Amino acid sequence: MVSNSQSFSNVQTAIDFNSIKNLTTDEAKAVDQLIINELSSDVILINQMGHYIVGNGGKRLRPMLLLLAAKALGEVGKNHLVLAAVIEFIHTATLLHDDVVDESDLRRGKESANAVWGNAASVLVGDYLYSSAFEMMVRTGNMRVMEILSKTTTAIAEGEVLQLLNCNNPETTEAKYLEVIARKTAILFSAATRLSAVIVGASAAIEEGLAQYGQHLGIAFQLIDDALDYKASKEDLGKNLGDDLAEGKPTLPLIYAIQKGDKNQAEIIIDAIKNSNRNAFNEVYAIVRSTQAIAYTEHRADEEAEKAINALNVLPDSRYKEALILLAKFSVQRNY
Ligand code: IPE
Ligand code: IPE
Ligand code: MG
Ligand code: MG
Repeated sequence: MVSNSQSFSNVQTAIDFNSIKNLTTDEAKAVDQLIINELSSDVILINQMGHYIVGNGGKRLRPMLLLLAAKALGEVGKNHLVLAAVIEFIHTATLLHDDVVDESDLRRGKESANAVWGNAASVLVGDYLYSSAFEMMVRTGNMRVMEILSKTTTAIAEGEVLQLLNCNNPETTEAKYLEVIARKTAILFSAATRLSAVIVGASAAIEEGLAQYGQHLGIAFQLIDDALDYKASKEDLGKNLGDDLAEGKPTLPLIYAIQKGDKNQAEIIIDAIKNSNRNAFNEVYAIVRSTQAIAYTEHRADEEAEKAINALNVLPDSRYKEALILLAKFSVQRNY
């Protein structure tokens, strides 16, 4: 079933992202300060590029989730702040690498780092951010934290490589696609929320519930990212539309459109995937819409957000838990 009047993606009242953000203003400032401190290197290019990408904004959604989960469990401690910075560093490193691989020249509404400084610099500074994240993480002195984060970064790399293998392959299935996004995107969300519990020694049930919340939210988040690559406005998104098609990425909107389209429509999409054909964007987009592929992708994201919210049952009621519920809905409703 594709149309669902209860679905988060169709809800008319927009989630007020900023009022959720306000619940962690002070902690988020402290996290940003940690990030800024960590970017200071005597190698000038690292400073420049680091400040450029971090200063261009970004939603800071992953650290926000970690901090809200920490507040839902009690107090935010120093290690929570460190880990929130670590998660954002890892995220930023993946973006630097991702824009090289995807040949994207717009990020956070500005020229991407690779467009300004070139691919080599982006790869190397991305590596620096990864290494810095690990240096910071060691400061927690917590072996489980290190185990979780090292497994997470390994899985992200696996997800990116799996995705590369799927590129230009129109036979990629929905299941294979889900495997990619679970690793490349969702696992970092899951690590963020799990760590909030690990660092305070919460029960296994709470840790698992928060990890499940992050995992499902992360899948919903990437499903919507892949829908937005077709239907967003470039200004809202701060990224170019059509980058996925330009890379021949078989994301769910295309996988579904191939299944549901008539023979001619399916051929057009298969051909565009095989040939990484950005020029076919308008034609492909029309098919994606007429086959309800965007609606289906949003519906799948709704289902994941619902699972994320259910996983929060392990938490006591609080306004922070409420905010986590809203962020799961925001991940589906967002247009940026
Ligand atoms: C972009 O993540 C990469 C994906 C996993 C889709 P965000 O949409 O969280 O990026 P920023 O940090 O807000 O720019
Ligand atoms: C998410 O995939 C990338 C990572 C998890 C690093 P995308 O390639 O779709 O992300 P955007 O759209 O470039 O932000
Ligand atoms: Mg990309
Ligand atoms: Mg994308």
